[in-house]
Amino acid sequence: MIFLALLIVGAGALRLPEDKPVDYSGYKTLRVALESEGLKELVKLMVETEVISIMDEGLGEQIDILVSPLEHPGVKGNLDGANAKYQVLSHDVGADIEEERLEILQAVPGVFDFRNYYAVKYQHSHLDALVSRHPDKAETFSIGTSYEGRDMKVIRISNDLANADSKPMIWIDGGIHAREWISSHTVLYIANSLLSEIDTGLKSQVTSMLDTYQFVILPMSNPDGYEYSRTHNRMWRKTRRPSGCKYGYTRPDGSCYYGQCYGIDPNRNFDADFGRQGVSSNPCSDVYPGKKAFSEKNTQAMRDYLLKHKSNVKLYLSFHSYSQLFLKPIGFDRTPPKDHAIHDAAGKAVVDAIKKSHGKVYRNIRSVELYPTSGSSADWIYLEGVVNSYTIELRDTGRYGFRLPTSQIIPTGEENIRGFIALVGTL
Ligand code: ARG
Ligand code: ZN
Repeated sequence: MIFLALLIVGAGALRLPEDKPVDYSGYKTLRVALESEGLKELVKLMVETEVISIMDEGLGEQIDILVSPLEHPGVKGNLDGANAKYQVLSHDVGADIEEERLEILQAVPGVFDFRNYYAVKYQHSHLDALVSRHPDKAETFSIGTSYEGRDMKVIRISNDLANADSKPMIWIDGGIHAREWISSHTVLYIANSLLSEIDTGLKSQVTSMLDTYQFVILPMSNPDGYEYSRTHNRMWRKTRRPSGCKYGYTRPDGSCYYGQCYGIDPNRNFDADFGRQGVSSNPCSDVYPGKKAFSEKNTQAMRDYLLKHKSNVKLYLSFHSYSQLFLKPIGFDRTPPKDHAIHDAAGKAVVDAIKKSHGKVYRNIRSVELYPTSGSSADWIYLEGVVNSYTIELRDTGRYGFRLPTSQIIPTGEENIRGFIALVGTL
């Protein structure tokens, strides 16, 4: 009975006009301890029926969920009925987002100072500005375009760039999940630091890194999703291509019974154990992996560039948020891979350096320990033979989640350039 009621409410409640931004007023985020199988099943059912959505699945059998004011009484009833322990992480997600909107309005036009989150076009023009200031050390180019036609723009950095082709390559990406705004900005912060535009005290260390390596940096791996998360839905995660009908219910004439879905999860779309774990077959789901691996233009662009340089790639590093984790391969198999000791030493160096910076604790774990998933970029390139392949989940640990306050962009950058230098030191 309860479940049926959930289904009916769930179907109508989340249908929203596409042109207006989604209003999260009164939405709450809850952290629920998943202490029993029954509770896990209940949460899973509420996710599948879109009564709640997942923000983050955490370590230690817990899950962070987003609940609308309309669904809140029912969800609370269900959780209490199952004796679930939970805490409220945010009492009003809408108020958090409004606070952020006001912060964004304070950005000074033409200034890129890491005190704010910037639109794709300003991130890109910032990369161009770096190149014009360091033409001997940096260039930009596009490795492809997104579904909506935005460039997949990278900056390549090395000392004496014209003669850097044979240096081992270090790849960094961010922004693969739309709502994880801090990730692209941390990657941009690292690019700035490598060019000694910021964190100038690190100059001697980065100079020797630039002598040895070439850095290929893609701050914005999912530009369509990011723009959509700025203009329409702050909690958008996926890409934006129409992906099929809700629950897969298509009429014989091809139209949808319950509505059109958009987007695939790009970090489920790589060819590593594709489509098996931590995914959903519902095209409207946040973890819909697509019909086949590399079905999306943005993941294709990453694949093509990385495969072309595969034998030369010394390190693959992908930034996400949130949870403060250093994630080691593999994400879909509990058996530790042969390079486990290398991965572990790398993770230890990174979390130590981060802790020394601002005292933040990031945990060094295998990604499968977080939750098993198929199709991640880091697993794919690891299986392609790049031994050093990692994912970092940035700040925070849940209070703001994806909506990390702008005042934390610089400290997050500061701790992560230090973590990054330590990581390169282990190679
Ligand atoms: N939070 C990221 C995601 O959901 C990272 C996944 C890392 N891999 C894993 N098996 N947990 O895509
Ligand atoms: Zn992510």
